[in-house]
Amino acid sequence: MDLVIGPLDLAARIDEALTVQAVAFGLGPEEVAVRRQIVQRHMQYRGARALGASVGGLLVGFVYGMPNSRTHWWSTVVEPYLRARDNDGWLDDSFVITELHVHPDHQNRGIGRRLITTITDSAAEPRSILSAIDIDSPARGLYHSLGYVDLARQVHFPSAPRPYAVMGAPLPLRRR
Ligand SMILES: CC(C)(COP(=O)(O)OP(=O)(O)OC[C@H]1O[C@@H](n2cnc3c(N)ncnc32)[C@H](O)[C@@H]1OP(=O)(O)O)[C@@H](O)C(=O)NCCC(=O)NCCS
Repeated sequence: MDLVIGPLDLAARIDEALTVQAVAFGLGPEEVAVRRQIVQRHMQYRGARALGASVGGLLVGFVYGMPNSRTHWWSTVVEPYLRARDNDGWLDDSFVITELHVHPDHQNRGIGRRLITTITDSAAEPRSILSAIDIDSPARGLYHSLGYVDLARQVHFPSAPRPYAVMGAPLPLRRR
């Protein structure tokens, strides 16, 4: 497989990335339009960066994240849930994984694992946090295997129909 993992100019390749996310995560056209605005804003945050996985020049997966700030919208939503479990210290000195998606045709080949370990290996922060839909899923299985533990469960984001779990792991992520 001619797989290349490397830096991705997400602002420039937003349509390709959102096509992958729409198929992998199940987004409709309206949600894609909303995500386009959000991603463009996120990429202006300090330290925000993205990696892409390409096969034959075609983008098949991507990850992006940034050093966390308690002022970011995501942090303000999860903070009370983490504080209730005395875990809100995880919001400081932490690299947030904001999105990770691999096209279904290319899943279960180690691409997601490589994307998240590579981007967190370049982080200066000693730990990483993220949120994932609070169900048993390939994503949650992957995160657990990398050392992420549950910091809060049943976290409700406005407008998201399903609750999320917030997870955190020390960096570097655990290797098999
Ligand atoms: C989560 C996702 C990015 C993983 O990408 P991937 O390239 O398929 O992942 P990898 O092949 O690197 O790793 C697969 C790992 O997932 C886990 N996994 C896969 N299927 C699983 C299942 N049915 N149940 C539990 N864990 C599972 C395993 O830990 C597996 O690791 P292994 O190498 O020990 O088998 C991909 O499944 C995806 O895009 N899902 C839809 C979008 C999504 O949910 N994104 C995350 C949002 S938080």
